[in-house]
Amino acid sequence: MKVATAVAHPNIALVKYWGKRYIQLNLPAVSSVSLGIAEWSTTTTVRWGAPQDEVWFGGVPAIPDFAGRVLRHLDRIDAARPPCRVETTNDFPTGAGLASSSSGFAALTLAGLAAAGRDLTQRETSALARRGSGSACRSIPGGWAVWRRGNEADGSDSVAEPIEASWDVRLVIAVVDPAPKAVGSTQGMARSQATSPLWRAWLRTSEDDVAAAMAAIEARDLEALGLVCEQSTHKMFATMFTAVPPLIYWQPATVAVLREVLALRAAGISAWATMDAGPQVKVLCAASDAARVAEALAPLVSRTMIASPGGPARVLP
Ligand code: PMV
Repeated sequence: MKVATAVAHPNIALVKYWGKRYIQLNLPAVSSVSLGIAEWSTTTTVRWGAPQDEVWFGGVPAIPDFAGRVLRHLDRIDAARPPCRVETTNDFPTGAGLASSSSGFAALTLAGLAAAGRDLTQRETSALARRGSGSACRSIPGGWAVWRRGNEADGSDSVAEPIEASWDVRLVIAVVDPAPKAVGSTQGMARSQATSPLWRAWLRTSEDDVAAAMAAIEARDLEALGLVCEQSTHKMFATMFTAVPPLIYWQPATVAVLREVLALRAAGISAWATMDAGPQVKVLCAASDAARVAEALAPLVSRTMIASPGGPARVLP
């Protein structure tokens, strides 16, 4: 096949990935655990063999930085590839800490492989997606997933695997500001890693957080999962706030949401916050509490959305 279209859902880390042990291959300093979002997706079409390299984003030509990243990723599929045309669209805000790079590079990897006529295993596909953007490896299995940091120098064991769990939780997404972030995650990670005195503590405790989250998922213990999820986020931000210069992704409304999450919990409602490299807050809760959580957060932010667990990335027939 010379043209293929793939769809992938973004994922939100519950135990966060922050830091790289080998930047060239996007090998992470820590393992992470995530949940895919069914309601949002990236759709990407790759034409393998076009008059020239061309990248379209949301119906218009992509900016050169983005186009370059996309085309370099296709080079990883085949260094001697023909010129390609890529069209990609997101049905949610891009580059704002809403995990658009996770679904973006997962969909691009799958569509590129299918258009090139290459058939890889899910693990190999996940490892390839990781090279585009670390978190993208977790959008290949989708749903509940664990990305092991791995030990091999070539990254072959640094892949995301599905966690077999049909557990119907919700993430209430509170969009504080959908504008693209000022400091990208690769740059932010490098700054935390190089300058934060808390970096060692982050490294030392992350693998235990992954084990605790896996045990909580297996036991369907939402409180245990929520607590580890929230603390993983705050530990990650501690390495950002203590970087030089500090990385401050939060806005005033972010703090208001985090306080409201604590107030909801004090009132007996299940709600635990997680965040990424941006001001938005995602709140893990039971399906039965989601409407109540969304209603409490709505006055504080520009938009709320209730997200449910999504499935794997897939090539469209
Ligand atoms: O995949 P990247 O390079 O955009 O990094 C994602 C980093 C966080 O969103 C902050 C955490 C995570 O695990 O997704």
